[in-house]
Amino acid sequence: MKGLILSGGKGTRLYPLTYTRAKQLIPVANKPILFRVIESIRNAGIREIGIVIGSTGEEIRGAVGNGEQFGDVKITYIPQESPDGLAHAVKISQDFLQDDDFVMFLGDNVIQGGINQLVEEFTQHAWTSQIVLKEVLDPRAYGVAKLREDGSVEYLVEKPKEPPSKLALVGIYMFDHHIFEAVHAIKPSKRGELEITDAIQWLAENGYTIYPHIHQGWWVDTGKPTDMLEANSLVMEEILSEMAEAERVSPSAVINHNSMIDHRVIVSEGALITDSIIRGPATIGAHARIENSYVGPYTSIDKNVTIRNCEVERSIILEESTLEDLPTRLQDSLIGRKATVKRGTEKPRALKMNLGDYSNIQII
Ligand code: DAU
Repeated sequence: MKGLILSGGKGTRLYPLTYTRAKQLIPVANKPILFRVIESIRNAGIREIGIVIGSTGEEIRGAVGNGEQFGDVKITYIPQESPDGLAHAVKISQDFLQDDDFVMFLGDNVIQGGINQLVEEFTQHAWTSQIVLKEVLDPRAYGVAKLREDGSVEYLVEKPKEPPSKLALVGIYMFDHHIFEAVHAIKPSKRGELEITDAIQWLAENGYTIYPHIHQGWWVDTGKPTDMLEANSLVMEEILSEMAEAERVSPSAVINHNSMIDHRVIVSEGALITDSIIRGPATIGAHARIENSYVGPYTSIDKNVTIRNCEVERSIILEESTLEDLPTRLQDSLIGRKATVKRGTEKPRALKMNLGDYSNIQII
């Protein structure tokens, strides 16, 4: 069994962060989403993983490397010239996948728990494909499945205006080699992409067996900033539930006696917290400095961030950024790397901004 992770694409809905950074490398609870995906595949016993990369490929290669950092994992990079669809990504990965069964995982999807059960189920049956489904209130933004009474998949449709069910396709799929017949047979969709949903539909129409795996935990497709914040909250809860209290604060972190840190806070090595209140769930990255500040629930402060005289809650602050002397609480915010948000003291008193394209600011 092999693993195939799709990390091409443009991530336009996460501009401006994804101008300069691959969307799959944005951290939730201080760990890139893509790393979580690699670990889920590894934890299911799969060691050979292919990663489809696009225009942000160099950055992904730099962060992931040859897989050594994940233990006994071997990574092969598969460049995709343009994001021509998920089925196109499968097509160009045929040399790597050969005739092996494989799990395909979209590199921007975050799910609760791992994929061990899914991989085991697929291994135990002679199915051509297995798709992961999740019941959602409004499935119109996803692929949607209609099941037969015996539980098998009758048909699938991509982003339907009138969904035939509430079962959305989570971006995790199991395939055997028959998928290559399908990806070669289908034509581009209206949005000009070779859709994996159409390829699976082709399998269904040609008499192959496809079964669902209904995912019971949470799932976030991290397309938009609000999805990132939600994923951050959910992942933090999950990590804290699995982590012993004694392991949460690094022995090299320094917290002065005037600070109050509650027990659901992870503090990494070298962090320095003075005269501050931190309410969990929250994560404070390595060598971050928090001074005279309040950090509220569901906040991830990345490494080397400085927060001085501020209040911040339910936000993600990426590495090496600085927040200083803010007169109001920063909330529901996503701050990129090396950004500075500061109260100015010079006259004339005015808002002074140096924003990248597609930035989004709300002032009160
Ligand atoms: O997230 C689940 C949904 O993912 C499913 O419900 C849909 O059926 C499926 O088509 C897909 O829809 P999206 O429109 O959300 O896919 P997106 O274009 O966001 O791409 C998903 C990931 O795959 C993302 O990490 C980028 C990568 N990708 C995408 C394309 C189009 C590639 O690596 N190559 C590509 O050509």
